[in-house]
Amino acid sequence: MLYPELFKSLESVRWDMSKDIPWDQFEPEKLTDEQAQTIKMNAITEWSALPATEMFLRDNRDDSDFSAFMSVWFYEEQKHSLVLMEYLRRFRPGLVPTEAELHAVRFPFDPAPVLETLMLHFCGEIRLNHWYRRAAEWHTEPVIKHIYRLISQDEARHGGAYLRYMKKSLVELGDSARAAFAKIGVLMASAKRTEKPLHPTNLHVNEALFPNDTVQSRLPDPTWLEHWLDTQIDFDKEWESKVVDRILHNMSVLFERSFASVQELNRYRKEITQRIAQTAKGAPPLADGATQGA
Ligand SMILES: [Fe+2]
Ligand SMILES: [Fe+2]
Repeated sequence: MLYPELFKSLESVRWDMSKDIPWDQFEPEKLTDEQAQTIKMNAITEWSALPATEMFLRDNRDDSDFSAFMSVWFYEEQKHSLVLMEYLRRFRPGLVPTEAELHAVRFPFDPAPVLETLMLHFCGEIRLNHWYRRAAEWHTEPVIKHIYRLISQDEARHGGAYLRYMKKSLVELGDSARAAFAKIGVLMASAKRTEKPLHPTNLHVNEALFPNDTVQSRLPDPTWLEHWLDTQIDFDKEWESKVVDRILHNMSVLFERSFASVQELNRYRKEITQRIAQTAKGAPPLADGATQGA
């Protein structure tokens, strides 16, 4: 079980909202209305950890270890939302999200395959870590720069925790886990070829509510995310390639094989898919663990 160890390690680096944010260093002239508006949107987006947690707990009923870890993840994500709202409450009270605006991002997600969802969120944490690092650079007001740096580090740690659960699934399930992770890895590392920012909050998750079934579509300004990335924090090709490199690096560690490009990861994905098909055709399946490093 990973939960006790993850709890301990995340507890040991936990920051305190009242002690670890230099609230008294706020410089009013360095915060623009445009910047404050983006903080509001990030606060609402972070609130969507609530429906995501409901999804995770529902879809992982068979996995009490992972479900217990959700308590830590959920707490930290809600804290991200809260610290951004606290910043607005102090310095731009007119922009604090209303309860109705927060509640609007709470909607049911369709059941989804757990391994794919895990990998999707792993990539989402990596991506968000980079978005927030870039946001910390873009902002000019020192307190909010500090906040974005802090929460970006939390997102990286969440990615690390998800990776531990991915490793655990790989040991337990072998090729089916490899196939699921490689498939989503290829999709999530191919952002350069898609128009759309690839983050869980920007993906369709409820067919019956389409097209209003992404978290982003339920924000007060549904077009905000792309504007934030393209014209405000300027998340350019160079930053995008950092995200891709990070995903590929972690896949290399996970699968114990080096991937220098998305194409290489895709080739590996095809290999695994073929191996699964051959096994299904009659070759005796390899025992759990026996596929490790194969
Ligand atoms: Fe977060
Ligand atoms: Fe996170």
